[in-house]
Amino acid sequence: MTQTPAHEHLPAHAPSGDLPVADIPHRLRVTDTDPKAARRAERQVATMFLLSMVFGIAFVVAYFAIDPEVAVYIPVLGEVGASNVVLGVTMGASIFLIGAGAIQWAKKLMPDVEVVQQRHSLTAPKDETQKAEANYQRGKEESGFARYPIIRRTLIGAMALFPIPLVVMLRDLWDSPPGSPSPQEILSTTLWHDGMRIVTDGTYQPIRPEDMPVGTLVSAAPADLMEVQEAEHNLNARGKAAIILVRMEPDEIRAQQGDGWDYQGIVAYSKICTHVGCPIALYEHRTHHLLCPCHQSTFDLADAGNVIFGPAARRMPQLPIGVDEEGFLVAKAGFAEPVGPSFWERNA
Ligand code: FES
Repeated sequence: MTQTPAHEHLPAHAPSGDLPVADIPHRLRVTDTDPKAARRAERQVATMFLLSMVFGIAFVVAYFAIDPEVAVYIPVLGEVGASNVVLGVTMGASIFLIGAGAIQWAKKLMPDVEVVQQRHSLTAPKDETQKAEANYQRGKEESGFARYPIIRRTLIGAMALFPIPLVVMLRDLWDSPPGSPSPQEILSTTLWHDGMRIVTDGTYQPIRPEDMPVGTLVSAAPADLMEVQEAEHNLNARGKAAIILVRMEPDEIRAQQGDGWDYQGIVAYSKICTHVGCPIALYEHRTHHLLCPCHQSTFDLADAGNVIFGPAARRMPQLPIGVDEEGFLVAKAGFAEPVGPSFWERNA
């Protein structure tokens, strides 16, 4: 390896405070001395970037070309979606090759020098240190922290005991007062009942079936939500009653939690994930899968809201729906199962 004094390699554009490292001889790379090697490195880097583009295009083609229902068998993993595998590999390769090309470029072709960057001392000047000490002493005097020992000690005691009430309140997380309703009972009661109109969440407009073409998803709530919320200051009511409406072709519905619980292909499910309660609205209309963004639990809305992937242990509760005499969507009953997270099942 050729070695030369470092100062010969300090680039012209180096910051004015930078100095060459005096004691370390600079080692030239092959690409610094051999133009053929430099061109080879250049071609390698360009090839990696080119391959990255190819994998990027392959990702787009695979996204449209591979049927998401098609599965492939992979040893150890078992049956997995072919689309997921190909998309993952192409996307991963595309990103990896950009990174690998950039590293190769930096290591072999970018300027390679050792420099010392001049920095000022981090110690404050003596007069500023003295000023800070004087300020601290004056604050101590003015607060009387040293002069009133009883106040000082009682303040320290109060601060030490302050976290205790917070710790005691943690008990509520696992123990309820005797006679209070169980979590299962609380989560089984929502504002939904027979005849309750379904309105859009946010604008509170009633919904007609014809407002929802096949493939749409609407976040919805019970019509009297605002009154209850204002009268009872009851934010829990809003959380428990939140639903999503999804429309699919009626013959795509393979199973429901009760006979005829849809209305012409419109199904209503709780919006609160049965894992730990995140609101869900990520719906893939071709597969009818509903994906929770928190921990990736996936529910099949064409198959009674059953869990098909992830940590959720319970299906999404379904709300039976129909229309009233004016043609607006209404609930036909409340939920038949508790909504929300299923932590209470551990005590059942
Ligand atoms: S809250 Fe939905 S998967 Fe965890």
